[in-house]
Amino acid sequence: MHKLVVLASGSGSNFQSIINSVKDGTIKGASIEALIAGKSGIEAIERAKKNEIPVYTLGAEFESELIEILDELNPDLIILAGFLKKIPSEIIDKYPNKIINIHPSLLPKYGGKNFYGMKVHQAVIEAGDDVSGCTVHYVNEIYDAGKIIDQVTVPVKADDTPETLSKRILKQEHQLYPKVIQKLLNNKN
Ligand code: GAR
Repeated sequence: MHKLVVLASGSGSNFQSIINSVKDGTIKGASIEALIAGKSGIEAIERAKKNEIPVYTLGAEFESELIEILDELNPDLIILAGFLKKIPSEIIDKYPNKIINIHPSLLPKYGGKNFYGMKVHQAVIEAGDDVSGCTVHYVNEIYDAGKIIDQVTVPVKADDTPETLSKRILKQEHQLYPKVIQKLLNNKN
């Protein structure tokens, strides 16, 4: 059984799609060992509780806490799902090719420290792009710059707001992330 750990800082809708995919067999032979929450009071924690998934909430010493938790869990795949803290390089070195992230743009466009959530979609609309999308990539020391694993394009409509575009892309994220996770687990067999 492959051990998955999910890190989230917000609503956790991608986390929910991973929970659903493990339940319905879209992701096979895997268990979600824990949610690591970037902060307390987030919806992702409620989703974990409803599904009896253990929760670890990071505090002020988040880097050393994260190292300790991951050492304890020894996951096969570390899945960032709307996690906003930077992963310390010690963890990146320790888990080569085992940490992945999803980002709501066609990386390398609109990536980096200042691009997250709605800011990405705002920038895409302001630039007048007619296509955006989402990307799953490995995590390295630089925000959103690790090797791209897969991406899906989504059209930008003339009357899109950051909210409407974000909704359309999020739907695709929910399909793409479980598919990529299953593909990576297949390669581990
Ligand atoms: C998702 O759109 C994800 O791609 C994005 O945050 C959202 C989290 O939503 N991540 C980033 O911007 C990372 N740089 P969720 O909490 O509902 O899954």
